[in-house]
Amino acid sequence: MPETQDVLITADDVWAGYIPGVSILNGCTLEVKKGELVGIIGPNGAGKSTFLKALFGLVPVTGGTFHLDGEDITNLRADQLVKQGVGFVPQTNNVFPSLTIAENLEMGAYQRPKAYKERLDYIGDLFPVLIERKDQRAGSLSGGERQMVAMARALMMDPKVLLLDEPSAGLSPARQDETFVRTKQINATGVTVIMVEQNARRCLQICDRGYVLDQGTAAYSATGRELLKDPKVIELYLGTLGA
Ligand SMILES: Nc1ncnc2c1ncn2[C@@H]1O[C@H](COP(=O)(O)OP(=O)(O)OP(=O)(O)O)[C@@H](O)[C@H]1O
Ligand SMILES: [Mg+2]
Repeated sequence: MPETQDVLITADDVWAGYIPGVSILNGCTLEVKKGELVGIIGPNGAGKSTFLKALFGLVPVTGGTFHLDGEDITNLRADQLVKQGVGFVPQTNNVFPSLTIAENLEMGAYQRPKAYKERLDYIGDLFPVLIERKDQRAGSLSGGERQMVAMARALMMDPKVLLLDEPSAGLSPARQDETFVRTKQINATGVTVIMVEQNARRCLQICDRGYVLDQGTAAYSATGRELLKDPKVIELYLGTLGA
């Protein structure tokens, strides 16, 4: 990544939690540059999903700030964040199962109906299968296909940044691999991506930079390649085969 690259997102000493007095994020600080693909790894319960939810206005931030393109976006509502260019694909329940693929995509474009056709062309290039099967109900799709619909729906709003929570979870190895390839392709079209992943090895292989989140704090950061070789990361997140 060039050093002159502008910063798109900053989290500055963010504290957040679900219940008053119980913090899950404990002073989380990180930054994401325009065009970057950043991975966040860490143990179960570290606060990875909470971080994305706090950024997307779904968990109250009690201290610190989030900025997008220099603007303070701390505690904005999710619909306001969508307008500002933040797309979020949650870990579960991320499609409307009773609606068709096409209807799911329309829901994604509800705030920009004029751009619908243009966005559909963009989605068609990335996920041709979704357009071929546009009349199929999302509930009858496989897990991997559903994940594609969820990503495509978020992309219908032409986001500056896409937040992905465990996109490969629960998928077969082949489908997992496809998810990582798609994510890389989406990033190559100019969309900044923050990806939380259980599959740390694959995530670090495709990301520009990774953060290790532990107990609600971004413990350390390095390029994906460096983290793959880091003895601590190997021991804790990649297993001995990573050595
Ligand atoms: N809706 C909620 N209400 C109360 N506590 C919650 C809620 N969701 C998560 N937590 C708690 O917040 C902590 C962090 O959870 P979070 O889901 O952010 O972890 P994670 O890093 O995404 O874990 P995983 O890898 O298992 O997805 C956990 O202790 C969890 O029990
Ligand atoms: Mg999670």
